[in-house]
Amino acid sequence: MNSNKKIIGPFKQILTMNGLPFKGALKDEQLKIIKDGAILITDGLIEAIGNFKILQNDHPTVYVEELTEDLVALPGLIDAHTHICFGGSRAIDYAARNNGKTYLEIAAEGGGIWSTVNHTREATDGTLATGMQNRIKKQIQNGITTVEVKSGYGLSLEAELKMLRVINDVKRQADIDLIPTCLAAHIIPKEFKDEQSYLHYILEHLVPAIDAENLCKRFDIFIEQSAFSVAGSVPYLQSLKNKGFEITVHADQFTSGGCKVAVEVGALSADHLEASTDEDIQNLAASNTVAVALPGASIGLGCNFTPARKLLDAGACLAIASDWNPGSAPQGNLLAQAAILGTFEKLSTAEVLAGISVRAAKALNLIDRGVLAENKIADLCAFPTSDFREILYHQGELKPRFVWKKGKQIL
Ligand code: NIG
Ligand code: FE
Repeated sequence: MNSNKKIIGPFKQILTMNGLPFKGALKDEQLKIIKDGAILITDGLIEAIGNFKILQNDHPTVYVEELTEDLVALPGLIDAHTHICFGGSRAIDYAARNNGKTYLEIAAEGGGIWSTVNHTREATDGTLATGMQNRIKKQIQNGITTVEVKSGYGLSLEAELKMLRVINDVKRQADIDLIPTCLAAHIIPKEFKDEQSYLHYILEHLVPAIDAENLCKRFDIFIEQSAFSVAGSVPYLQSLKNKGFEITVHADQFTSGGCKVAVEVGALSADHLEASTDEDIQNLAASNTVAVALPGASIGLGCNFTPARKLLDAGACLAIASDWNPGSAPQGNLLAQAAILGTFEKLSTAEVLAGISVRAAKALNLIDRGVLAENKIADLCAFPTSDFREILYHQGELKPRFVWKKGKQIL
């Protein structure tokens, strides 16, 4: 018996999420479902996937991790946009917003992101790491096996490096994959007189330090009236792209503008898009940039959802992420948020599930996951039901019974 080889099954249904087009609307009939299925895993990769009895007969000496209840398997879910490394809480902002203040007013008064920056700068590495680890535990309980994590609450050379080092330390020990992203261009720190001097500082000082320690391969920017301008962000992002970094953009959250930049610089994704115009939607749909809806921020701020239906009908690739952060999206339950987005935007089950699996993988430029198919990594989760439609129906309350990362059971 080969110990790095095993069969997991039987599953009532395996939703492979394989063979779907990357862009545009999806119908549930397009989902490839394997009934009474199983997965053969070798060294953390999927070697074969098919009917349980046939796989068992074809591989009689392979160890079987036999499942005894009705389960539906999905690819391990992917949260392509989070800010789960932070200090402090913003419950005060939440209450103030619900009493009539806006997100931008709170930020303009020095609260908002600034309050998290102060707490994060003061926090020890250990406190930041423990906070992240607790949030990662919750992500695993929701079936998530890959999480993107942004810096952006440091906003100085030392504090941004501190965040990225903590993210990388936690990444090395975590049961799931973390994808670090530098969001030093989150807002302009008070220590700088204008955006150009700060963006220049990032390029001159932070980028070489990140490179030297290999802390991340991705950069993000918040393009918004309260943060960075369209004109200022283009040369910044171009110069990062020329250095070989991948680009993602916080775009069109409150006002249109960022989406155009994301498409112009060939960003992997444009995230938020609550304020995108019809022209932005067409522009995005014609590009290879993934549109990432962040329903957790709409729920946290009480504002409209990303126009997901329009984006899909226009032909865009739509991913859905939690944006888990202390300010606008403190809840952090991607499955609940994706299901709720689906009810408001009239998305098919296939569109929602693709948005948190195969299309989320595309937003992160990861071609080795997001589907259950041969040669992909064996990241999967299994829900205690016999019908895949039950998963979104319970809006986050039906939790996975099992989660496997690279073939190893982690829940
Ligand atoms: O994606 N919009 C900017 N950044 C975060 C919010 C961060 C914060 O408010 O702390 C977002 O919503
Ligand atoms: Fe965000």
